[in-house]
Amino acid sequence: MKKIAFTLLSIAALAVSAQEIRLTPQNIDEVLSALTLEEKVNLIVGCHDAYTSKSETMIGHQERIVPDAAGTTTAVERLGVPPTVFTDGPAGVRISEWREGADRNFYATGFPIATALASSWDLDLVYETTAAMGNETLEYGCDVLLAPGTNIHRHPLCGRNFEYFSEDPILSGKMSAAYINGVQSQGVGTSIKHFVANNQETMRFVNDSRVDMRTLRELYLKPFEIALRESNPWTVMSSYDKLNGEYTQCSEWLLTKVLREEWGYDGIVVTDWTGTRNTIAQIKAGNDHLQPGTDDQVTHLMEGVQKGWITMDYIDRAARRVLEYIVKTPRYKGYQYSDNPDLTAHAALVRRVGSECMVLLKNDGDVLPLRETKNVALFGVTSYDMLAGGTGSGDVHKPYISQLSDALEAQGLTLNADIKWMYVNYKTYAQCARTARFGHGGDWQQPVLPEAAIDRTIIERAAKSSDVAIYTLGRQAGEGSDRKVEDDFNLTAQERQIIADICDAFHQQGKPVIVIMNTPSVVETASWKTQPDAILLAWEPGQEVGNSVADVLTGKVCPSGKLPCTFPNSCMDHLSSRNFPLFGGKERMPVQEWDPRSTMEYTNYEEGLLVGYRYFTTAQKAVSYPFGYGLSYTTFAYSGAKIKKVGDGFEVSVTIKNTGKVAGKEVAQLYANGVLKAFAKTRELKPGESETLTMNVPNYFLARYDVEREMWVTDKGEYTITLNSDVLTTQATLTYKVAKELTYTNDYNYTK
Ligand code: GLC
Repeated sequence: MKKIAFTLLSIAALAVSAQEIRLTPQNIDEVLSALTLEEKVNLIVGCHDAYTSKSETMIGHQERIVPDAAGTTTAVERLGVPPTVFTDGPAGVRISEWREGADRNFYATGFPIATALASSWDLDLVYETTAAMGNETLEYGCDVLLAPGTNIHRHPLCGRNFEYFSEDPILSGKMSAAYINGVQSQGVGTSIKHFVANNQETMRFVNDSRVDMRTLRELYLKPFEIALRESNPWTVMSSYDKLNGEYTQCSEWLLTKVLREEWGYDGIVVTDWTGTRNTIAQIKAGNDHLQPGTDDQVTHLMEGVQKGWITMDYIDRAARRVLEYIVKTPRYKGYQYSDNPDLTAHAALVRRVGSECMVLLKNDGDVLPLRETKNVALFGVTSYDMLAGGTGSGDVHKPYISQLSDALEAQGLTLNADIKWMYVNYKTYAQCARTARFGHGGDWQQPVLPEAAIDRTIIERAAKSSDVAIYTLGRQAGEGSDRKVEDDFNLTAQERQIIADICDAFHQQGKPVIVIMNTPSVVETASWKTQPDAILLAWEPGQEVGNSVADVLTGKVCPSGKLPCTFPNSCMDHLSSRNFPLFGGKERMPVQEWDPRSTMEYTNYEEGLLVGYRYFTTAQKAVSYPFGYGLSYTTFAYSGAKIKKVGDGFEVSVTIKNTGKVAGKEVAQLYANGVLKAFAKTRELKPGESETLTMNVPNYFLARYDVEREMWVTDKGEYTITLNSDVLTTQATLTYKVAKELTYTNDYNYTK
């Protein structure tokens, strides 16, 4: 009798206490103890149930809360635990623009790609831009934006480089921190990804990135370390790949020792959208939440506890961290989102930011900005069908893409009617370019028309009647496949031919030719760059691409971007080309398709630290355009460079003067022994105006990683500190002395 009474009492107590317990930031442990094992497991495993999206390719997408957002956590209503929503991606909120029964659409703003943002070298601008992204995340009812992509551009053919910032860890880390702080200023979270060494798409789910420890610490972990020291992302996304033989998602060294014990990270680790793997090992290693979540993962954990394969302290650790994340979210706080972010204001922002990210590579005879120009012969499929961003989860369902053709006309220029007709109205173009142009994952298939139809006579006729020729070179790339060398990194024969023909015909008439590069990442330039008079690298600067390009061409905006990655003479010049799938490998490939030159299941990072400019400057190998390079419509002079010890580091100041005829901005780059350590951008300086820039560098940033001692070492000695306008162009040289060897343990936290 007593037993029954006791049981009834305890159930009653549970019922009463459960009724009283509603999750708050203060009672997480109490809620944790009130959760059943199954409820805890369902907090750890993504809410993959009945609401998965219809599209097979984007597993986990759910229809219930925010249609086609990437995934959700599971609610525990009885304890006041709401579901929360993760949404992609680095260039804006990726949700469906269409909803069942709705009488409106739900577009999101297409922001500039990460590589374009990095090209601004302007941390305040990136903060401002991503605050708008965070606002759209919030107002569309999402809790976490699955960004930034913080992986290093190890090789230009990586299909997702557009989602990543740079080949340099300092630029990547600082950009990531600004990005995270901007988004999170709106009360939503981020997911810094893909942790770590996810630097190719080929066989991405199984590929083993084999990286020596010094390179791993100094190059591939460093941007994540800087970002976590200078911001606090709500989540870290563990990557698909293996690292030195072990899945990153199963690496306790990576997810617990480095991330938490050394760097003090206190948010949650969410897996990339992996599907079922070794569930128990993933939780033991330090993942707290498995997206998108599968029934098997629930079974693995339930059985695992019952059979003793995993103890409750692991389950409680993960579930507690998920609860600590949930109480931060707007959905937990009951935020009444509008489903109506100010897309008009954000579009105006994207137009301005897009122009700030562009890099002027060439401007012979100051043909730009266009001055007396009235009529433009506008060539290139992409001039009429511009590329705002890359494909895959980094894409955005945006309301429109502004076209250069329309933008130039809107700014009072007329387009050569014959040429326009060939592109806009050419029947086959519309059919070929649309259907054949991109497959899933951004496979670039060269549009077969209309370049083939534009022969010399047409071009020569245009050269007589138009004032200037503009040709836009387009490329696309995306998640799920890497790029290839021929007809992708390298121009096609057709592209070469039309650039040559246009330059020949217009130069015979004494008229200039401008090439616009509307690309997600690096393409070959050395073989053709001598032909046009000007080259403007637009990248994929978001939905306002046409207007942003036109604003630079007409001089409304003075270009101030600088390259965040090297443009080599040849793709094969990169040392990492020896160990990169150069044929456009896919994320899943049957063995027989595999290229014999590449491996089936691993990539040796044999080049070590010699990635990007680190290789080209060390090897003194010529490049087409160097890291940090970018022209302006004006000129700048550097003077008064000074250095002084400050705290556990040094401070450099330098005065930048606008010595040209138009207002503009300059990016000063600080290198120590040839490696980037800091940078700063002036405000817009009027002709004759000056600004003194100050940059601080902790001694820790001079350290190399000593693998034997497992610590960072800043060697005693003299360091050559240079202030540069690009990695090869020194404007001022200083010396900095470190009197004695300085050592730092892995958990050292520098002051910014
Ligand atoms: C994808 C990507 C990741 C994205 C996630 C959700 O596979 O690797 O960047 O955020 O799944 O779509």
